[in-house]
Amino acid sequence: MLTRLIYHSENHLGAADGKMIGALNDIMDVSDRNNEKNGITGALIFDTLWFLQILEGERDAVSQTLGRIMRDPRHDEIVIMDARPLEQRMFPNWRMGLGFLRGDNSALYARHGLGTRLDPRRMSGEQALALALDLAAGGLDRRVAPHAA
Ligand SMILES: Cc1cc2nc3c(=O)[nH]c(=O)nc-3n(C[C@H](O)[C@H](O)[C@H](O)COP(=O)(O)O)c2cc1C
Repeated sequence: MLTRLIYHSENHLGAADGKMIGALNDIMDVSDRNNEKNGITGALIFDTLWFLQILEGERDAVSQTLGRIMRDPRHDEIVIMDARPLEQRMFPNWRMGLGFLRGDNSALYARHGLGTRLDPRRMSGEQALALALDLAAGGLDRRVAPHAA
């Protein structure tokens, strides 16, 4: 059964510097590799304090992936926002698409009631999904360019 899971967590990668971008790109590389193998698609939205991730795939694959993610010290305080069966993937083209606030999508963030940062504690699963879908419509990223964050 196809399942979609949405969670948020506290980002422990630290300030937006080269080290943080390198660590984030390590996560993207391993996700790309594993998610292709495990039939996982989705989106990872981040800022320097938060992660917000949507995972879609077969239920066992999602739960195994979440199990690994939950043990990862690069974040903590994971809160599951929503988990439900899914008829059809909403991020079929993204083994894991990366989204973050930058100049050219600040209006999009504002439309979702967000200023300069995410505050996933105040968001419902539905609002998180709407933000991710809007970001995906304009194109998510595979990795962060060194100058971007
Ligand atoms: C915020 C966050 C999101 C992650 N997303 C994924 C993911 O979508 N897929 C994945 O396989 N690993 C993801 N990881 C990495 C896992 O926690 C773990 O390091 C990795 O799956 C281990 O893979 P390996 O056993 O092949 O080395 C994520 C980590 C963090 C901190």
